[in-house]
Amino acid sequence: MGIPILLVSVVLLLNSHVGLCGCYKRIFSFGDSIIDTGNFAYTTGKNPTPVKESPYGMTYFKRSTGRVCDGRVLVDFYAQALGLPLLPPSIPEEGTGQFPTGANFAYLGATALAPAYYKAKFNFDMGGSSHLDLQLDSLKKVLARIAPGDNATKSLLAESLIIMGEIGGNDYNFGLLARNRPRDTPFQYMPDVIGRIGTAVQDVINLGAKTVLVPGNFPIGCVPAYLSAFQSNNTADYDRNGCLVWYNDFSQKHNQLLTKEVQRLSSQNPGVKIIFADYFGGAMQFVQNPKKYGIDDPLVSCCGGDGRYHTGKGCDKNSKVWGNPGSFASWDGIHMTEKAYSVIADGVLNGPFADPALLRTC
Ligand SMILES: *[C@@H]1O[C@H](CO)[C@@H](O)[C@H](O)[C@H]1NC(C)=O
Ligand SMILES: *[C@@H]1O[C@H](CO)[C@@H](O)[C@H](O)[C@H]1NC(C)=O
Repeated sequence: MGIPILLVSVVLLLNSHVGLCGCYKRIFSFGDSIIDTGNFAYTTGKNPTPVKESPYGMTYFKRSTGRVCDGRVLVDFYAQALGLPLLPPSIPEEGTGQFPTGANFAYLGATALAPAYYKAKFNFDMGGSSHLDLQLDSLKKVLARIAPGDNATKSLLAESLIIMGEIGGNDYNFGLLARNRPRDTPFQYMPDVIGRIGTAVQDVINLGAKTVLVPGNFPIGCVPAYLSAFQSNNTADYDRNGCLVWYNDFSQKHNQLLTKEVQRLSSQNPGVKIIFADYFGGAMQFVQNPKKYGIDDPLVSCCGGDGRYHTGKGCDKNSKVWGNPGSFASWDGIHMTEKAYSVIADGVLNGPFADPALLRTC
């Protein structure tokens, strides 16, 4: 029992040190299961769902928290480095909370574009029960209560950090992982995904935000769920790290368009810092040099089943945990481990995967 208490005080000491910059009073974040810190789990009520059970949360928290991870996710690392407590999920306190240090609106399965868009344009039925429109509406509802009036809202958001994503990953997952659809279709809606993220950024700026972090997509061609779904006997389909070339190129295309959108928004909003966070580059660090981070095989999941990528089964309380999550990059075949997120977050906080590095925006 002594060891966790000791660890907690070390973390607090580290935080108070880094937190001296004290640059943001609050963080408001938007996204999907990559950073959901409990919204989805809360809305399942008493119904069982794997993320509410072991082994989720086995690292750091030592209990499930609704995070789709063994431990902390990207926004947790940002909050701690900025000297703030871990962000509460927004939904449990949407109608009552004062959110003195911010709130996380991210929700498992969320898409950038609304399901109605996909139904109308492609006749897809998107599973997502959350999307950017809903998350921004929820922010506005909270702001109208905790900082009523345009001026109060503006000054509250001016001293906040906004994290817009990662979002859009599910728009592509739903399109790419459904095998009965041509894989080029998601290229057709990519410009609209980018446009929707851009509109969301402009929306929070219009409300008063002065600093917005806009994360890009991950190298999905290195993600076990993709690697197992699109296994190929053609060596030309793989790069030298064993990742699927076509799918990584797809992510890079999204990231190039998003970078351009960030540049466009920056020139239209002088005095506002809009920072692209390169999650692709951050993740490629441990794909290319896994040993440097204590990771054995960056392409297999820690919790799952059998098969080349351990994806024979999803991660739940009956799954196999293949070893210490700290030596894996993928947690459950789609989402990453705390270890992987810590590496990516470090590159955003200290550079070079955000320009300016997040800690230098203080
Ligand atoms: C809002 O701020 C502006 C500019 O500082 C000021 O002129 C205006 O009176 C304020 N409005 C309210 C309702 O406080
Ligand atoms: C790869 O080749 C083997 C042997 O010819 C075959 O059984 C298997 O189905 C092939 N796999 C794919 C993904 O094409």
